[in-house]
Amino acid sequence: MNPLFTPLRLRNVELRNRLGLPAMSTYQAAPGNLPHPAWHLPHYQTRSVGMGLVLVEATAVAPEGLATPHDLGLWHPSQADALAEVAEVITAQGAVPGPPAAKPPEAARGRGRRRPAHRGRRRLDPSGPLPAALRRRLPRTRQK
Ligand SMILES: Cc1cc2nc3c(=O)[nH]c(=O)nc-3n(C[C@H](O)[C@H](O)[C@H](O)COP(=O)(O)O)c2cc1C
Repeated sequence: MNPLFTPLRLRNVELRNRLGLPAMSTYQAAPGNLPHPAWHLPHYQTRSVGMGLVLVEATAVAPEGLATPHDLGLWHPSQADALAEVAEVITAQGAVPGPPAAKPPEAARGRGRRRPAHRGRRRLDPSGPLPAALRRRLPRTRQK
């Protein structure tokens, strides 16, 4: 069997295969930076068919982290409840929902430049800075 279609165990999470949907912003958030039930639920349900892992689109953990006003948020309990529904439709298809992933806007823009709109704003990270010993072990991006 092609190894792509064999299960993958990551600590206590088992993926049924090695197919993963990368995080992809859709810019379709409803007011309040909530998932849009009529849009996000069918979107993630249909994309989860046959997948092992489905990463949810960029989701800001604080309003300052929004790359656009149309991104999802996760700083209010109503947003957490609505995202749980997204996770449920993914799980119902047999895929594992991955954490909402977002590159910091300055990384997405390249070379660590910060956009004028971000000047003076707090820079937030959901999990805190990595210890130096761990940072040194991170792979470097291949030069294209
Ligand atoms: C339309 C589109 C939207 C994307 N949105 C996100 C996003 O919301 N969060 C994120 O971390 N990456 C996002 N990306 C980056 C993809 O996840 C990334 O390109 C993919 O994982 C492949 O990575 P690589 O080019 O480094 O191999 C997006 C890419 C595309 C094409």
